[in-house]
Amino acid sequence: MPEGRLLQYWKERERQHLRDVYAGLRIKKFPEDLRMIEHLLWLSRTQVVIELGTHLGGSALWFRDRLRTLAAYARVPQDFRVVTVDLAQGRAHDLLRGADPSYAEHIALVEGDIADPAVSDLVSSHIPSGARCLVVEDTAHTYDTTYAALEHFSRFVPACGYFVVEDGIVDVPQLRPPGMDGGVVPAIRDWLTTDTGRRFRVRRDLERYGITCHPHGWLQRAHS
Ligand SMILES: C[S@@+](CC[C@H](N)C(=O)[O-])C[C@H]1O[C@@H](n2cnc3c(N)ncnc32)[C@H](O)[C@@H]1O
Repeated sequence: MPEGRLLQYWKERERQHLRDVYAGLRIKKFPEDLRMIEHLLWLSRTQVVIELGTHLGGSALWFRDRLRTLAAYARVPQDFRVVTVDLAQGRAHDLLRGADPSYAEHIALVEGDIADPAVSDLVSSHIPSGARCLVVEDTAHTYDTTYAALEHFSRFVPACGYFVVEDGIVDVPQLRPPGMDGGVVPAIRDWLTTDTGRRFRVRRDLERYGITCHPHGWLQRAHS
């Protein structure tokens, strides 16, 4: 648990990551977490990233560019995609179009509440048949949204694939950002006891760079 100067260092980095940009668009992720996601995309041959929580579109663009690189290495088919969900998508659409007028070739913006099962069906309609998916949950970081994300979107994760639940730091008192009540880690723990959840395990060894915003949030599906 960070204390003293280490805690101060963490808090400065946290403030910095809230101001960060990718290709001119806001992206809210620590570099160490982006690096680990890069490893997982490569290892699991991810063709489709399902992102829950688009915000201003920077992370969707980052995922799209990583998938484009995987396709250039013939690691995944050319028909790669990011399907990203938020309650409203008007601003993300405008910003993405400004950054890359052809963004919609590979990024699908889905509007809706992740707690609504119809939204996961809508996401499904954007996934090429047989594509391997990786899911990243980055919505409100409450118990309810985390549980809903796992309940409705874990079905897209293939054998040995990954589901990343972001911002379990809301359950670490020293690291909890202001205004957050926590609930992410308890939701993961409860969901893991369900029939579907039992097929996943928490990969704490993936918190590899010493710093992650997602403690207990790196989940991998079993072989079968
Ligand atoms: C932390 S931001 C996402 C940040 C973005 N992924 C990034 O890395 O830059 C969270 C987003 O989740 C959205 N959100 C919150 N609750 C949601 C819900 N129930 N369903 C869909 N989106 C939700 C918010 O509107 C907000 O844009």
